[in-house]
Amino acid sequence: MGDKRIRITTVSQKYIMALAGIFLMLFLVVHLSINLLMVVGDDGKLFGQAVQFMLTNPLIKITEYVLFGGFIVHILLGVILWAVNNRARPVKYSKSLKTENSMFSKYMIHTGVIILIFLFIHFFHFFFVKAGIVPIPEVAEGDKHDFFSMAVVTFQNPLYSFIYLVSFVFLGFHLKHAFQSAFQSLGLNHNKYTPAIKFIGTLYAIVISVGFAIIPIYFYFFY
Ligand code: HEM
Repeated sequence: MGDKRIRITTVSQKYIMALAGIFLMLFLVVHLSINLLMVVGDDGKLFGQAVQFMLTNPLIKITEYVLFGGFIVHILLGVILWAVNNRARPVKYSKSLKTENSMFSKYMIHTGVIILIFLFIHFFHFFFVKAGIVPIPEVAEGDKHDFFSMAVVTFQNPLYSFIYLVSFVFLGFHLKHAFQSAFQSLGLNHNKYTPAIKFIGTLYAIVISVGFAIIPIYFYFFY
């Protein structure tokens, strides 16, 4: 009875986590699409227009709150599920049970923590400036929404460019498993479609991490 209840709550937690995860994955597509406007070679004009649109659209404001809610729910449930799984499986799997799949899933909590640390550093460069928590860098000349100039100073610093690039590798690992895992948690996996879902998940993870990596590389080497 108790076991059954634990199983039901674990399943519903996985369900909610998957929904939050899918929302975050969609956010990354939008975030990357806008950020890539930084590298079109017009000194951030087009990017600046997109930022203006995002800042003035009330729907985007609401989405920002949902986004932070999504992050918090995803992180909290992720840690709880990890702790429950660890308790439920005191004896480790034997080597023969290890699959390529479990290799990626095993490190979700670790890659997740690395992404969280990255986010904290990332917020210092942009979001905390916008929120007035961190002073506006000189280069932005008092404009807390001049994210292009902030990107220039951030990525021309080799240490920050390196931290961002390494974080994107871990983000890629996290997303590769997250994508197929979300489908599985929602009960949408099917023997026939699993290979396709895995393939799209891998492709998504590569496009997102390589796409983001273009930005520090552009500012450090080519700007
Ligand atoms: C080179 C890569 C990236 C650049 C140049 C970049 C740039 C920015 C900028 C300019 C903002 C401020 C936007 C605003 O507050 O209106 C921002 C906010 C944010 N970024 Fe990034 N970002 C990058 C990668 C990432 C990644 C990989 C993640 C997630 C893992 C992420 C998550 C966020 C979140 C959650 C916010 C705050 C929400 C928001 O204001 O939209 N960013 N980023």
